[in-house]
Amino acid sequence: MKKVASGIAPVIQVQKRTSKSLYRQVYEGYRKAIVDGNLRTGQRIPSTRVLALELGISRMPVLNAYAQLLAEGYFESRVGSGTVVSKSLPERTTHTVPAAARAKGGNRNRRRVSKRCLNLSSARGFSSSRGMGAFNVSQIGFDCFPLAVWNSLVTRHARTSRATSFDYGDPMGLRELRQRIAEYLRIARGVRCDAQQIMIVSGSQQGLEVTTRVLLDPGDPVWIEEPGYRFARNVFTCSGCVVVPVPVDAEGLDVAAGVKRCGGARVVLVTPSHQYPLGVTMSASRRLQLLDWAENNGSWIIEDDYDSEYRYEGMPVTSLQGLDRNSRVVYIGTFSKVLVPSLRLGYLVIPEDLVERFLASRFALDIGPPTFHQAVLADFIAEGHFARHIRRTRVVYAERRNALIENLQDQFGSLVEIAGVEAGMHLSIILNGISDRELSVRAAQENLWLVPLSSFYLGKTARQGFILGFGSTLVQEMPAAVRKLRTLVALKRNA
Ligand SMILES: Cc1ncc(COP(=O)(O)O)c(C=O)c1O
Repeated sequence: MKKVASGIAPVIQVQKRTSKSLYRQVYEGYRKAIVDGNLRTGQRIPSTRVLALELGISRMPVLNAYAQLLAEGYFESRVGSGTVVSKSLPERTTHTVPAAARAKGGNRNRRRVSKRCLNLSSARGFSSSRGMGAFNVSQIGFDCFPLAVWNSLVTRHARTSRATSFDYGDPMGLRELRQRIAEYLRIARGVRCDAQQIMIVSGSQQGLEVTTRVLLDPGDPVWIEEPGYRFARNVFTCSGCVVVPVPVDAEGLDVAAGVKRCGGARVVLVTPSHQYPLGVTMSASRRLQLLDWAENNGSWIIEDDYDSEYRYEGMPVTSLQGLDRNSRVVYIGTFSKVLVPSLRLGYLVIPEDLVERFLASRFALDIGPPTFHQAVLADFIAEGHFARHIRRTRVVYAERRNALIENLQDQFGSLVEIAGVEAGMHLSIILNGISDRELSVRAAQENLWLVPLSSFYLGKTARQGFILGFGSTLVQEMPAAVRKLRTLVALKRNA
C-alpha cells in the first residue's frame, strides 16, 4: 500500500470578508501555531490541496503561504516525506511552557486538585514499565503465550470484520465471551453464575472501580487486607472511601479483628484463593465467618480471584462466591495472569439483582468495552486453546517455582523465611534486619525487580522482605538471579 503523507491542520480561522488577504491569514495561522508550541518540530503538514479543501478556499493562497513559510524556515520539505515543521527550529520555540511553571505565588492556589487525588500513590515506579528482569511480579511467562494461534485468530477476525463490526458493542461485553467465561467459572472455580451476570471490564482494576461506584459512597468504610493489594487501595482512596486495614494471618483475613476495628464496614475486599501478597489460602471457617458477617451486617464482599488457575499443592480451592447463599459476593476475575496483561480484559460476576445498577454505572464510565479482542478471546476459549494454555503453563510455572525455592534454600538457608508457595506466580520472602525499600532501589540497578513487602502495609507493623515473581524468570536464569539477590542482601547487612 502506498504510504500517504498527511497531517492534521491547525485551527486557522479564515475570514473571507476582510481586508487581510487569505494568503496572509494562512501564513500567520501557521506561524502562530508553531510559535505557541501547538505544532512541534518534525510534525507533518497537510498538503495544500487538503488544507484548501478544509478551509473552503482556493489552492493559490495556500500555495503562496506554504512557499513563504518554507522560505522563512518554518517548514521544510523532503522528497517522499512531504512537508513538515522545520526540524532545525529550537525546541524552546516550539514547546509550550506548562501552565504550572508559569503560575507564581498566590496563583498556584488556583491550581487546586482533589484531596483524593493527592492521596494516591504515584504510578511512576510501576515495574512493568521498566522492562524485563528477574522476579518482576507483574510479568507472566511471555515465552509461554501461544503467539501463532493468537495471531491466526486475530487475522481471521480482521479478515471477516464488516463495517458494522465497528458499532458500539454490548455495554456488558460480547455475549459469546460472557458465555464462555460463565461455563469456565462454573466448572473450574465453582462460581454460581449465568452469562447475564458477567460484565467484561478492562482488567480487575476497572472491575473494582465499577463495583466501588455501585456499592460505596464517599466516606464509607472498607476493609482491606493488611498487607494487601496496593492498586486496589488506590481505587477506594480515589472514591473518597475510608480504608480500614484488617490483619491477615495463617488463615487469611482475621474477621474478628475486622469487626473490632470497624464492624459496620460497607465492603470488604479479599483475595481468598491466594492472598496478595502473602499467598495464604483463606480457611473454610474464615470464609463462613466472613459470609455470615456480610449477611448480618448488610455488607458486600468483593472477591479478587486473580491467579487461582495455578495451584501446586492439593486440590484447587473453589471460590468464596460459590459458598455464598445470600448473593453478597461480587467476584472479579482477570486474564492478566492466566493469559497476558496487555489485553486489559477481566470480568465481574454480579449478584443478579444488582446487574442493572452495575450496567448503569459502567455506562457512565466508558459506555462499554472494545469489541475486537473480546471476539478473538471468545474463539480462543471455544476452540480449546485456553484450556491447553492453562495445562501447559501449570507445568512451566511449577518448574519455575521449584527452581526459585531450591535456589533460595541453597543460597540463604535459614536466613530467609519463604511464604505463600502453594499457588500463583509469586512467593514472599521475609528478611529481617534490612530495609526492603532501599534494597529494592539498589536491586533495580542490577535488573532485579523486587517489590518491598513493607510497601503493602498501611499500618506500622510492616514486615521487611520481598515479593518475588517467578512467572517470567526461566529455570536456567534462577541460580544467577538468586545469587545476585544474596550478594545484595549481604552487602546491605555488612554496610
Ligand atoms: C491482587 C491482584 N489482583 C488483580 C491483578 C490483576 O489486575 P488487572 O486485571 O487490572 O491487570 C493483580 C495483578 O498483579 C493482582 O496482583
